[in-house]
Amino acid sequence: MLGKDDRIEITVTVNGESQVVDVASSDLLIDVLREQLHLTGTKRSCDLQICGTCTVLVDGKAVSSCTTLAVETENREVRTVEGLADGETLHPLQQAFIDEFASQCGFCTPGFLMTAFALLDEVSRPTPEEVHRYLEGNVCRCGSYTNILNAIERAQPTTER
Ligand code: FES
Ligand code: FES
Repeated sequence: MLGKDDRIEITVTVNGESQVVDVASSDLLIDVLREQLHLTGTKRSCDLQICGTCTVLVDGKAVSSCTTLAVETENREVRTVEGLADGETLHPLQQAFIDEFASQCGFCTPGFLMTAFALLDEVSRPTPEEVHRYLEGNVCRCGSYTNILNAIERAQPTTER
């Protein structure tokens, strides 16, 4: 069994690219993404799995990267907000957030985008109740909720997965 400071090399696919990273067994996924892989789109806020700001996808499921150990992602697929756009072309969800003015400071936006992506992957045309339930773990301090909901609705017909 690994001690918390023991290090291990893991292979993980991040945004479609295989990466080999050297991590301590206690390293959090958010730190490996931001500090080792320089994917700083994933934001840290509460650090307690309450706000959803740090949400990424692991094997297509939305998880809080602030409470996921990096070693848990060995041989799995991680997708971050940087993995949504196709080159210079924004993902339809990203474009919908712009079109609906769904960000003020934008700090919560990566987390909302990833949760919304997972939602639309699971349920292509969710009811308003399903959207509310799915987004329960995401907090927007600027209170952009109405516009965020409008953006998710706007993205539904065109969302590519
Ligand atoms: S920073 Fe991870 S849930 Fe808030
Ligand atoms: S847009 Fe500022 S926290 Fe959501």
